[in-house]
Amino acid sequence: MIHMRFYVGSDHAGFRTKEALKKALGKKGIKTIDVGTFSDESADYPDFALKVAKKVARDKGSLGLLVCGTGIGMSMAANKVKGIRAANPFDAYTARVAREHNDANVLCLGGRTYGAAAAKRILAAFLKARPSADKRHRRRVVKIMEIEGKC
Ligand code: RB5
Repeated sequence: MIHMRFYVGSDHAGFRTKEALKKALGKKGIKTIDVGTFSDESADYPDFALKVAKKVARDKGSLGLLVCGTGIGMSMAANKVKGIRAANPFDAYTARVAREHNDANVLCLGGRTYGAAAAKRILAAFLKARPSADKRHRRRVVKIMEIEGKC
């Protein structure tokens, strides 16, 4: 069992992909806490983005996974929550760099933009990567977070 808390959520468009990714995380021994939605009945993505983002912001060291049709609305909504750096990568490379360079703590994926196999590859790359200790990257992440205090 990997000791990592992964808060997950989706709207109806991301529901099936969320379920597939939860299984993939379970196979890796990663505990998921699912905030919904729990069916493919129409649901509003900001509601689930807010739930996951608040939990990740309060639980140091945890990560979040949000799935909507494209991952775009989820990332916009999650990034409104203080302490959240939500990324919407489109392949394994951008997922790795989102962790290494941007210290992303929420991964947003699209249930309608690529298949479950691609979503699993993106998630695996995100999981494997670690935030870089390189001073340049840390400085830039600190600058991102300072924007919260200025607005
Ligand atoms: C729902 O139809 C769709 O708009 C939503 O899942 C998402 O793609 C928004 O960004």
